Amino acid sequence: MNSVVGQPISRVDGPAKVTGHAIYAAEFNLRNMVHAALVHSTIAHGRIDQLDTRDAEQEPGVLAVISHLNAERLPYEPLEKRPPVDPKAGEQLHVFQGPEILFVGQPIAVVIAETVEQARTAAALVQVAYHEQVATTEVRHDRAQPPTEASSKAGRGGGSRGDAEKAFAKAPVKVDMWCSHDREHHNAVEPHATIAEWFGDHLTLYDKSQWVDNVRSEIAHVFGMPAENIRVVSPFVGGAFGSALRTWPHVTIAALAARQVGRAVRLELTRRELYVSVGYRPRTEQHMQLGAEADGRLVAIIQDAVAPTSVYEEYAERTADPVLRTYSCPNVQARYRLAPVNANTPCPMRAPGIATGVMALEIAMDELADGLGMDPIELRLRNYAENDEAKGVPWSSKALRECYQTAADRFLWSRRSAPPRSMRNGRLLIGYGMATAFYPAERAPASVQAILYANDTAVVRTASSDMGPGTYTAMTQLAADTLGLPIERVHFELGDTEMPKAPVHGGSMTLASVGTAVVDACKALMANLPAGEMAEGHGARLRRAGLESLTATGHSEPGDEANKYSSAGFGAVFAEVWVDPDFGTVRVPRIVGAYDVGRVINPKIARSQCLGGMVGGIGMALMEQAEWDARLGRVMNANLAEYLVPVNADVTDLDVTFVRSSDEIFNPLGAKGLAEIALCGVAPAIANAVYHATGKRVRHLPIMPEKLLVD
Ligand code: MOS
Repeated sequence: MNSVVGQPISRVDGPAKVTGHAIYAAEFNLRNMVHAALVHSTIAHGRIDQLDTRDAEQEPGVLAVISHLNAERLPYEPLEKRPPVDPKAGEQLHVFQGPEILFVGQPIAVVIAETVEQARTAAALVQVAYHEQVATTEVRHDRAQPPTEASSKAGRGGGSRGDAEKAFAKAPVKVDMWCSHDREHHNAVEPHATIAEWFGDHLTLYDKSQWVDNVRSEIAHVFGMPAENIRVVSPFVGGAFGSALRTWPHVTIAALAARQVGRAVRLELTRRELYVSVGYRPRTEQHMQLGAEADGRLVAIIQDAVAPTSVYEEYAERTADPVLRTYSCPNVQARYRLAPVNANTPCPMRAPGIATGVMALEIAMDELADGLGMDPIELRLRNYAENDEAKGVPWSSKALRECYQTAADRFLWSRRSAPPRSMRNGRLLIGYGMATAFYPAERAPASVQAILYANDTAVVRTASSDMGPGTYTAMTQLAADTLGLPIERVHFELGDTEMPKAPVHGGSMTLASVGTAVVDACKALMANLPAGEMAEGHGARLRRAGLESLTATGHSEPGDEANKYSSAGFGAVFAEVWVDPDFGTVRVPRIVGAYDVGRVINPKIARSQCLGGMVGGIGMALMEQAEWDARLGRVMNANLAEYLVPVNADVTDLDVTFVRSSDEIFNPLGAKGLAEIALCGVAPAIANAVYHATGKRVRHLPIMPEKLLVD
């Protein structure tokens, strides 16, 4: 039989998705289901003085209006072991437990009605009077309120080696700059939604989630109930990019409302509500200093990153990681500081912190190459990190040189004329830019159940998720090969707490973690298969042994290799831009990326991942920007008309190559994981190309036309 691992198989869940048979959280149509609509605070800080729900309650179809005045008191038991996607310091928002207001958009009431229109109409009639207090809506750098180091509990801080300040002071060549990117929102196609239904003291939640086990454990703690009494179902996720990692307040609200009205309650967030009800990538400002010898060797890297968090939680990112680990440099100092503001808590968004840190580092490296008069690739090769100098251990595999070479060849980098503003096509300025991509590879414990049936089919299941990267497909391929069955005979299931525990579907960990457990489970099945004749099928052996089915479980978790080695995906990204000097508009006619992600299980879907990352990178570089009104503490463009994301017309030629690589030290599959690395490096490659085209360095992304027009 032909092996399917490594083959460009189309998505096994594709037909269900395009025919509408795939059911998303908001689409479960339960009997007797009613609908919820939220009322939000319109002030950034203060307390509710009066809340008048009488008009809302009079509306047709309304069953209840729940607020802090009449909501049940929820225990909100502390989560002793917080999941890795939750902030480690602070307390999650306690919904409807008191009159305090901490940010604009905080849910202050929920209306439950027979139809969603009735609920939303009534929600608009809830009258609120506030006692307003002064709000902090911006990160301030003045003495009154300086940002502070993330508390040790929050983790993810900075790090250092050598004496970076001293080395920087003495360095003959220097770069010293500030750069930033604006707040970004995930804006997945599918809005967040939860349907809650109680059966006595048992609760079922249909939720948009990247981690059903986490929803179960958080809701168990919020309600003070046994986790076994909660089932969370999430078979399909219409994009998430990190926004569905955590359990957000609206999930609690749906469960609370369903208990209070004794019906199944459906709560679907509107596009506008997504800007205040789930997190976002925080605007991050970074002071970057590079010191180098005249030959380009780095002697010092200093980073000082500042980001906002909420006033109730300390959300911290790994912004320091790329600075500490991408290049060889004896003296490195990375700081990460936070400032609480009256806003909802930020959260991971595709390559959280890493994409941000890569951006600052790679723009700074471009400035250094420019200052040295050195080719940007040559500068990176001179500082190639043979080991992970932050951890002081070797990489389990690294083929970054091959990435630079492959991407440069495919891009025809040799055609670049080095001086800025030296390439033109008619009146358009042409620029070539490049950047290194980096994303740490990690694994987490995963369990899988595999069942073989006497009719020669198999079901493989685990409580993982597939928000779009192709988990259903890759896992089916791994199971089919291990079981020696055609791919059509293997059915992979996920997204249900009834299934064996899987790690968070995030951090690019799913393939390496869950995939390894899938192979383990299928191997265990094969080992237990009754003996039979040569060429006798599995089903025939089961039937002869009088078995209808055979079940096995598999498990995987990281081993000692995580201490002896450091693992990461690597890549090189090249971008061409065309800039209109009169209008400041930037087009990206092509992006070329070459990646070392270990073994590729499905080249078609892996390529799709990278295409998506490149499109996201175009957004980060040129368009995506939540416009924050600091007077009011709110996003002004909380919609898809004014918050710009790339559309087909913005995307032209995207070229993806995977260099030969397999990392069996990292895991038996040889796969390092692929998702988030695809976003890393794209925005700085574009920003560097814009500099090359125009001679104008824009360090504050996105590069909107006006930034290129103003001197
Ligand atoms: Mo990703 S930000 O780990 O979903």
